[in-house]
Amino acid sequence: MHVLVTGGAGYIGSHTVLQLLQDGHEVTILDNFSNSSPEAVRRVNALSSSKAKLLKVDLLDEELLKETLTTVKPDAVIHFAGLKSVGESVSQPLKYYRNNVTGTLNLLDAMDSAQCHTLVFSSSATVYGESTALPLLERTPRSATNPYGRTKLHIEEMLEELGASDARWSIANLRYFNPVGAHESGAIGEDPQGIPNNLMPYVAQVAIGRRDKVGVFGGDYSTPDGTGVRDYIHVEDLAAGHLAALEYLKDSSGVHVWNLGTGTGASVLEVIEAFRRVSGQPVPYEIVERRPGDVAESYANPEKARLELGWKAERGLEQMVEDMWRWQEQNPRGFESGDLLELSDDELAEHLKPYLVTRKEDGPRGDID
Ligand code: NAD
Ligand code: UD1
Repeated sequence: MHVLVTGGAGYIGSHTVLQLLQDGHEVTILDNFSNSSPEAVRRVNALSSSKAKLLKVDLLDEELLKETLTTVKPDAVIHFAGLKSVGESVSQPLKYYRNNVTGTLNLLDAMDSAQCHTLVFSSSATVYGESTALPLLERTPRSATNPYGRTKLHIEEMLEELGASDARWSIANLRYFNPVGAHESGAIGEDPQGIPNNLMPYVAQVAIGRRDKVGVFGGDYSTPDGTGVRDYIHVEDLAAGHLAALEYLKDSSGVHVWNLGTGTGASVLEVIEAFRRVSGQPVPYEIVERRPGDVAESYANPEKARLELGWKAERGLEQMVEDMWRWQEQNPRGFESGDLLELSDDELAEHLKPYLVTRKEDGPRGDID
């Protein structure tokens, strides 16, 4: 299948592109690099025997987007492109509505023009708002507590109405819980700009010595150790969920929704302790005020995805932290740092050879000399 991946240079997108290539798909990435670097795609291509094509396109450029889609003629689209900082969305809500909602509208129009009606959309567990009905089920009522969350909610609703209006559409809304971790090679991973908002990248930067200590947002929640509990999911498991959804959509029209989580929560202190164990570094922390808008606990019921997609998260917290730490150590300042950046394409491919993925029909994965 020819899959067009918006936001494919980003964190979750890059890991998914690699799995799509491995699965034998043809991949075209559209990205405007507002929160990513072409270096991520160079590394994905070095890790794979078949290569993804990369096009610099902004979803807000309606004309170019339409032209691109009608030229590429994809069979399906996986739509990661979006802005994702909750704090920034509160101070600049229109930027979020424009980029995420208008960007998605433009994409849907362009897909329709290109006769492509299969879409996998990156939604988020944020659509469960402040729900305390745990574990969270796909039918748990939705709400939004900030503009970022509301863009996800609006897009989900828009997609439901689109699916109801025209039976040609096959759509998956994937609600991610807390994506963390990195590819086992340490060559691709999350590269937050500025001070990380999310826990895991923050803890990783404390462990590497870039920041002094972790501020733990609240120590008096009604959780076993008083700190917030979340359902962390390895980005490789998450990526696999997209391939499973794509497969499902092949013979099923309409709009579908799946939680992508592990079903198990970990507390902030458990995450800090896992980083200490894995890195062997001290990870100082201090309990500070609760962060407004945070819930005490959030974790998925992932049963629907298991039953309908045959998908299940396989990796535990220890592996999430190990892989994240490898990425952090090898790229202390993300894609713009570390030894890999200095390598030519050929040298990079040689360096990553032990991790080379080959297309399914090309034979087994592995280090062929
Ligand atoms: P990311 O920022 O690493 O990737 C998003 C990519 O989209 C970036 O490469 C960015 O440059 C690109 N992009 C943004 N706006 C664009 C536009 N107008 N045109 C073209 N490209 C554009 O983020 P991620 O963590 O990989 O998240 C991917 C998706 O998953 C996002 O939609 C995000 O909201 C959603 N999501 C992420 C998380 C998470 O914790 N990472 C959780 C739930 C949902
Ligand atoms: C946050 C976003 C959510 C988004 C998700 C994934 C908010 C209110 N929610 O969720 O919309 O979908 O990221 O991108 O921003 N923590 C600390 N110290 C820190 C950072 C976090 O103690 O420096 C705690 C939080 O209070 C929480 C846990 O760690 O208990 C995880 O936080 P985070 O990684 O930001 O994810 P979410 O809060 O689940």
